Amino acid sequence: MDSSDYFDNIASQWDGMRQSFFSNSLRDKVIIAAAAATGMTAADIGAGTGFLTSALVERGLRVIAVDQSAQMLLELGKKFPQVDTRQGHGEELPLDDATVDLAVANMYLHHVERPSMAIAEMARILRPDGRLVISDLDRHNHEFLHTEQHDRWMGFHQKDVAEWLQAAGLEKVKVECANEDCQASSSGREEKVKVSIFIASGVKTN
Ligand SMILES: C[S@@+](CC[C@H](N)C(=O)[O-])C[C@H]1O[C@@H](n2cnc3c(N)ncnc32)[C@H](O)[C@@H]1O
Repeated sequence: MDSSDYFDNIASQWDGMRQSFFSNSLRDKVIIAAAAATGMTAADIGAGTGFLTSALVERGLRVIAVDQSAQMLLELGKKFPQVDTRQGHGEELPLDDATVDLAVANMYLHHVERPSMAIAEMARILRPDGRLVISDLDRHNHEFLHTEQHDRWMGFHQKDVAEWLQAAGLEKVKVECANEDCQASSSGREEKVKVSIFIASGVKTN
């Protein structure tokens, strides 16, 4: 089963699963880092069922939600019919250059094949002064997240993420600890492991 099939299969359960993995306070921190404001246009990449989209819609932004999984987007569309959903691949986003004020992604980067390329694509669609914000997992060694939950990357070193944002032409690059954890347990086991989460941000200046 590839990653797209995996997320198609779990789409109807994702909202419940997600609540056990990470908290709504992570969403608040991402939205603050994004300086999301009414009237902006935002792209939520790897949007899933709309974890970040919900907060952007609430704040009066126009949202374009992109995901590889048609089923995830179907679930998102049921909750937020006003959102422009686009099925597409993170390394070739279905958006024109310089068309959004914000490009955000939560728990998406560790699923893509080439994270530096995915970041470059998010930077490409930003207008001048547009902001990119990504929240994802710090580097860890919990193999079951790879084998059971289709994680492609075992998290990231923050310095690598900072280099990818800089290589994408972004300025004011920051990669900081979110003071939030992702909690997960391997199938058949009670105890949960915790993986710390970072928030990366940068601004396109031209
Ligand atoms: C762990 S879920 C996170 C969903 C949502 N952002 C959230 O926070 O609840 C990862 C999402 O990224 C999508 N995804 C993974 N790889 C992708 C890719 N290369 N291009 C587009 N979407 C991708 C998956 O289909 C899935 O919906």
